[in-house]
Amino acid sequence: MSEITIKNLEFTYPDASRALDGVSFSVGKGEKLGIIGPNGAGKSTLVNHFNGFFLPQTGKIVIQGIELSKSTQEEIRKNVGIVFQNPDDQLFMTRLSDDVAFGPKNLGTSPETVKLEVQKILKELGLWELRDKPAAHISQGQKRFAAFASVLVMSPSIIVLDEPTSDLDPRNRKKLIALVRGFKSTCVTVSHDLDFIWDTCERVILLSAGKIVAEGKTEKILSDRALLEKNGLELPIRLQSNL
Ligand SMILES: Nc1ncnc2c1ncn2[C@@H]1O[C@H](COP(=O)(O)OP(=O)(O)OP(=O)(O)O)[C@@H](O)[C@H]1O
Ligand SMILES: [Mg+2]
Repeated sequence: MSEITIKNLEFTYPDASRALDGVSFSVGKGEKLGIIGPNGAGKSTLVNHFNGFFLPQTGKIVIQGIELSKSTQEEIRKNVGIVFQNPDDQLFMTRLSDDVAFGPKNLGTSPETVKLEVQKILKELGLWELRDKPAAHISQGQKRFAAFASVLVMSPSIIVLDEPTSDLDPRNRKKLIALVRGFKSTCVTVSHDLDFIWDTCERVILLSAGKIVAEGKTEKILSDRALLEKNGLELPIRLQSNL
C-alpha cells in the first residue's frame, strides 16, 4: 500500500488562480520523492495539502490509508511533519527551545521527556547555543535549521520539505544532505536545488502550471536538459560542468 496517494487534485485560490490542475501520484513507504518545477508551478500549494492546511477542492488525498478531510486532518497531522518554505511560518515563541518543545508538549508528552528530546535535537542540529533566543534574533540559515528541529523532534513518519536548502551555507547544506539521506521516514522534498534533489531523492516529479509534466527516476529526469529547459529549469550544476 502506498504511504501517500493523491488522485486528480485540483486547487483554485479565491482570486480564481488555478494552482493545481489534476495532480495524481503516489509515494511508497520510506521513499524519497523530489518535486521540482518553476516559480509558481504549484509546489507549495501542493505541500499545503499534505497536512490538511488546504483540503482537496476536487480529487482526494489518502495518507497512510486515511482519506484527508476536515474530520481526519488532526490525526494525519500527527504523522506528517512539514518544514515550510518560510521558517517564520513555524517559529513564533519567544525562545527557540519553546518553538521546538511546542509540538511534543501539545501531544501531551511529559515535561521531562520534552526537555530531553528538545535538548537532543537542538544539539544534533547545532542550535543548542541559540536555545534562549527568539527566532527573530537569529540568522536565516539558523532559522531554517530551527524549523527542521521543530519538525524532527516529533519523529514524523512522513516528512515534507519545501525549499530546504534556501539560506544554507555549503557546510550546512552538506549536513542537511546527510540528515535527509539518513531519514527512515517517507520524505517529499520540493526544491529548485536540483543537486540537492539528485543527492537525496530516488524519484522526481516535474510540476508545471499545476500539472505533472514528467515523472521518473531522478537521474533520468534531472539529466534531460531539453525537458528541464522547456519547463524553466536548468541541469543540476554537476552536469553543467560536463557541457
Ligand atoms: N494566496 C494566494 N492567492 C492567490 N494565488 C496564489 C496564492 N498563493 C499562490 N498563488 C498562485 O498559485 C500558483 C502556485 O503558487 P505556489 O506558491 O504553489 O508555487 P510554487 O511552485 O511553490 O512556486 P515557488 O517556486 O516560487 O515557491 C502561482 O500562480 C501563484 O501566483
Ligand atoms: Mg513554493
